[in-house]
Amino acid sequence: MKKEGIPLEKFVIKGGHKLTGEVSISGSKNAVLPILAASVLAEGVCVIDNIPTSLSDVSYMLEALRKLGAGVELINENTVRIDTTEISSTYVDYEITGHLRASYYFIGSLLGRKGHAKVALPGGCNLGPRPIDQHIKGFQALGAKVSGADPSCVDVSSKSLFGSSVYFDVVSVGATINVMIAASKAVGTTIIENVAKEPHIVDVANFLNSMGADIRGAGTDTIKVNGVSKMHGCSYTVIPDQIEAGTFMVAAAATKGDVLVNNVIPKHLESITAKLIESGADVEVFDDSVRVSMTDRSDICTIKTAPHPGFPTDMQPLMAVLLSTSKGTSLISESIWSNRFKYVEQLQRMGAVINVDGNLAIIHGVKKLLGTQVRADDLRAGAAMVVAGLCAEGTTEIEEIHFIDRGYENLVSKLRSLGADITRVEY
Ligand code: EPU
Repeated sequence: MKKEGIPLEKFVIKGGHKLTGEVSISGSKNAVLPILAASVLAEGVCVIDNIPTSLSDVSYMLEALRKLGAGVELINENTVRIDTTEISSTYVDYEITGHLRASYYFIGSLLGRKGHAKVALPGGCNLGPRPIDQHIKGFQALGAKVSGADPSCVDVSSKSLFGSSVYFDVVSVGATINVMIAASKAVGTTIIENVAKEPHIVDVANFLNSMGADIRGAGTDTIKVNGVSKMHGCSYTVIPDQIEAGTFMVAAAATKGDVLVNNVIPKHLESITAKLIESGADVEVFDDSVRVSMTDRSDICTIKTAPHPGFPTDMQPLMAVLLSTSKGTSLISESIWSNRFKYVEQLQRMGAVINVDGNLAIIHGVKKLLGTQVRADDLRAGAAMVVAGLCAEGTTEIEEIHFIDRGYENLVSKLRSLGADITRVEY
């Protein structure tokens, strides 16, 4: 939708160029967003490096910090100094939260720091119902009271939080991080069970520990948090983005290219690497880089998304693009979100033959995709359209690219440096 005075932008991609060369991966969006929220606990200065500051989601989190009373200073393109000595407000309004899911991490951090948080219900990509009942269950277990007075906000308060046992009914990245953040300041020990194990969970735990928290077990099924009464500022470097890395790996394979993807943690990419190899790509793994190349149409592959260390749901739209020109019929089953096949309609417009049956996509490989006008339905759906455009014959125009701007730093310049013909144009 066009906002008054703000021109609409789209990507125009002339497909058919093999991606070749080297690309460097930015800091992890899904780690940095909770890390920024968690900095509220420091009561001091945090200098955080490897932040993809040009992402719109990051801008909204920094704006939220400013509105809460924190001092926020961009030291350089990827380093931010955040002074949370003073936090004067405990309210995050819908002007912020309407733009991104991760704004809900302020509930945990404000509750831990100030004993109160009022945070408007979050927006974010529409991937199906996105309840936050497990977050609330965790806060309540720590002793917080939830007010139902304003249904458009989560309003939680507690004079003091107390360590407790929390068992999540579903494995949730957001709930795991949010409760871990709040429990850092609880009196006593909190045991959180059936938690998510994504790399960014470990990174947030490491950041909290750098601020003086005492968290053990992040990356396993059970996290133990020994609450501390005071935390402090720190210097921290965010991990590389698993999904951005996976996106370039798939783009290299889908364009029959040869790309060295630098600044990654290969361990975080194992499930993606495994599925690319099954699809016929060559993947060489080095200490902090991976090289992906492919020469032929991909082999068929079966993918089921699952919480880490399973195959990431955020990567399935991208793999669908690769498999849409495979040599047979591939299957993708989505087990995290109920509405994550919206991109299929756009891929069909490019000639892909894909049937969706509930949470299953049945992909009949075709010889090639054809460029046309498509739209980004959400962040990863949009990234998938970019990769589809890169390997399609002819020109692809992608609208609604504001979704893509949420999660990919310098996407156009990175792709152009690999030989892609992609431009961002106003219309
Ligand atoms: N769920 C509940 N209750 C809750 C929380 C979650 O039922 O209280 C359900 C959800 O409905 C979903 C499942 O649990 O079916 C998993 O949701 P989760 O909480 O793990 O997702 P999230 O924290 O909202 C994060 C990422 C998503 C990514 C998912 C799964 C951020 C900001 N977002 O979302 O990333 O798809 O984990 O890995 O970290 C993206 O980056 O494009 C993106 C959508």
